[in-house]
Amino acid sequence: MTLILGIETSCDETAAAVVTDGCAVRSNIIASQHHLHEKYGGVVPEIASRAHLQRIVPVLEEALAQAGVAFEDLDAIAVGNRPGLIGSLLVGVSAAKALAWALSKPLIGVDHVRAHLYAGFLKPLENSEAASPSLEAVFPAVGLVVSGGHSSLFRVDDPLRTTLLGRTIDDAVGEAYDKAAVMLDLGYPGGPLLDKLAQRGNPRKFDLPRSLLGPESLDFSFSGLKTALLYSVRGQPRGKGREAAFERSAADLSEADKRDLAAAFQEAAIDALIVKVHRAIDTLTRDGAAPRSLLLGGGVSANSLLRRRAVELTQRGLRVYLPPMDYCLDNAAMIAGLAHHQLHAGQVDDLALPVIATASL
Ligand code: KG4
Ligand code: ZN
Repeated sequence: MTLILGIETSCDETAAAVVTDGCAVRSNIIASQHHLHEKYGGVVPEIASRAHLQRIVPVLEEALAQAGVAFEDLDAIAVGNRPGLIGSLLVGVSAAKALAWALSKPLIGVDHVRAHLYAGFLKPLENSEAASPSLEAVFPAVGLVVSGGHSSLFRVDDPLRTTLLGRTIDDAVGEAYDKAAVMLDLGYPGGPLLDKLAQRGNPRKFDLPRSLLGPESLDFSFSGLKTALLYSVRGQPRGKGREAAFERSAADLSEADKRDLAAAFQEAAIDALIVKVHRAIDTLTRDGAAPRSLLLGGGVSANSLLRRRAVELTQRGLRVYLPPMDYCLDNAAMIAGLAHHQLHAGQVDDLALPVIATASL
């Protein structure tokens, strides 16, 4: 049995988790900082790193206590060290280094985006008796990571071998959701609020564009959709940039129009994702690596319409791995889960482990 402690502090969640054998989640502690960033409408890096410092020790203690294990029982300390906000990453990585050094345990740096792809294989300890799939049945797979920072498509040959097929050329889909929610005056963080409202709206009342970027492209673009929503909410602008004046504000919308605009936005955003997943399946099949499954991860994988549309892909003969809701948003269980495979492949780091802001290809 391998017992790994995962630590995740790349953005605004301070998280720690203990996972057995890369799959059974014994504890999954997440301290959110949403209330600290709410009034700014987005994450403020300096506030985030300071809040991580205040929370990291109690979060680690809680993760060990809930898992019912002592620090000495751990086989390795894993930490998300890339990509993310540098000041935030530093807190988790410093804590992981201190623990690895003090306990003489292996230290494992984990890629946050790849870890999101792994979240669909995690199960709470009490459900972990259910047989895990054999790797032959899962791979090759198409992977889709959709979050506030990323919208990326991957070919996944095993948990440690991923190849980027496409990514957003402007906004990440979660970022577009958050900005759309601001335009509709829904609150922060906007993604889940917009999703909830959209479920009560008519997606066909307003027509919003799907940007597909040419017939072969596997990249995404969400800025056109965002602008189209802005004009639908506020009318055509007069003047440009900061001088622009709009015909109306979100407060002038009827509740019905708000619901219908949210539904139209949701339909267009999720359609654009699903079209690219189909294209990725076609591309891999043409390359002689017909995918056996779809792996979904990242905050937007909590979205009700995306989950429904992803499950429909089983009609193309794919298994679909959707993360349980607790592992969609940033969490440390996904870090500990992927680290299990890194440990067994001998991919262990030393105390020189760096923090890296940008996503690796
Ligand atoms: O993975 P995550 O926690 O952080 C990043 O790595 O970015 O993703 C957060 C993003 C936010 O943009 C949030 O609005 C979005 O995920 N999100 C959703 C939903 N739940 C969270 N977007 C659409 N529908 C949802 N239900
Ligand atoms: Zn994330």
